[in-house]
Amino acid sequence: MEKRKDDHIHLAYSDVSQVGSPWFDEVLLIHNALPELDLADVDLSADFLGAKVSAPFGIGAMTGGTELAGKINAELAKAAEEFGIPMYVGSQRVALQNPSVRWTFEVVKQHAPTIPKVANLGAPQLSALPEEKVVEWVVEAVEMIDAYAVAIHLNAAQEVVQPEGEPRFRGVLEKIKLVKRAVGKPVIVKEVGNGISKEVAERLAGVVDAIDVGGLGGTSFVSIEGARALGAGLELYRRISEVFKTWGIPTAASICEVRSVFGGYVIASGGVRSGLDGARALALGANFFTMSQPLLRAVLDGRIREEISAVLTELKVAMFLVGARRVSDLAKVPRVYGPRLREWIEQRGLRC
Ligand SMILES: Cc1cc2nc3c(=O)[nH]c(=O)nc-3n(C[C@H](O)[C@H](O)[C@H](O)COP(=O)(O)O)c2cc1C
Repeated sequence: MEKRKDDHIHLAYSDVSQVGSPWFDEVLLIHNALPELDLADVDLSADFLGAKVSAPFGIGAMTGGTELAGKINAELAKAAEEFGIPMYVGSQRVALQNPSVRWTFEVVKQHAPTIPKVANLGAPQLSALPEEKVVEWVVEAVEMIDAYAVAIHLNAAQEVVQPEGEPRFRGVLEKIKLVKRAVGKPVIVKEVGNGISKEVAERLAGVVDAIDVGGLGGTSFVSIEGARALGAGLELYRRISEVFKTWGIPTAASICEVRSVFGGYVIASGGVRSGLDGARALALGANFFTMSQPLLRAVLDGRIREEISAVLTELKVAMFLVGARRVSDLAKVPRVYGPRLREWIEQRGLRC
C-alpha cells in the first residue's frame, strides 16, 4: 500500500493525472464596472461548517502513510496554519492498520494546531468492517489529527480500475449513518473526481452535514490507476481506465446537482485551478472550495505559500470585479451559463 501511495503522488504530479474539464468556463460572471467598493473592502472571511476561517478555501484530501507523504503533510499543515485555512488529510486506513506510519498524519496536528482539520476514510473499507470496528476506526482517525470534521470518500470508479481495488459499496449508506451517530462532529461525504448527482445528494440529505462534490475535470484517479496499470503490464486495467477516464459529472454541473436538493454545506472540488474558478463555484451555490493537485505540485516545487496567496488574491479580485464585498454576496451575482451547462441544468431540472 505504501508503494501505491508514493506512485499516486508521483503520477498526480504529472499531467497524466489531469483529465477533462470541470466546466468552470461555462460560468461567466458579469463584470461590474461600478462595484462601489475598494479592493481592500473585500472580506474573504468565511464559515467552515461552523468554524471561522480566513477564506472559503482549503487544502483538499491527499496523502499520508509514507515518508514522502509525511513530509508533504507537514509542509501543507504549516502553510494552512499560517493562512488560517482548513486542511483535509488523505485516507487514514494505512495508519489504522500500521501504527508505525501514524506520524505521517500526526504531523498535521503538530504543525496546524488551530485550523479545522478533516479526517478521511474510504467507503469501501467501512463497508467491509463490522459496526464496532467502524466506530473504533473513526474515533482513532479523529484523534490522530485532532479533527474538526470527518470525510468519507466515495471512489467507486477508482476502486474498479485499481488492480488491488475493493469495488464494494453494499451497505455504505448505513455505515455513513453510523459514523454520523458515533462521531459527534460534522461529517462530509466526498467524491474523488467523478462528481455527485442530485439523486445521491437526496439520499445523503439529513444524513451528513456536507457534500464535497469532487467532480470531473481535474485530477482523475481513473487515469492515475491506468498509468500504474500500464507500468505493471496489466492490459485489461489499462484499457478500462482509457474507456472510463472521462466518466463522471463535471464539477460545475455537480455543484448545481447537489445544491438543487441539498440544504447543507456544499464544498466544490475537482479541477478548481484559480481563485476565479473558486468564485464561480461559490456563485453556483457552493459554500467553500478546495484544491488538491495544484497544492501538491506547489509543495513539491517549494512554492506552497506563493500558490495559496495567489489563489486568495485571485478570489479577492474576482469578488471586487463583480462587486461582492462578502463571500455570501457571490451567490447573488449576475451570470450567464454556457450552452453545455445550461443544457445540463435544463435536462436535469436543476435550480441553479
Ligand atoms: C495525490 C493525491 C492523493 C489523493 N488521495 C485521496 C485520499 O486519500 N482520499 C480522498 O478522499 N481523496 C484523495 N484525493 C482526491 C482529492 O481529494 C480530490 O478529490 C481530487 O484530487 C480532485 O481535486 P483536484 O482536481 O483539485 O486535484 C487525492 C488526490 C491526490 C492528487
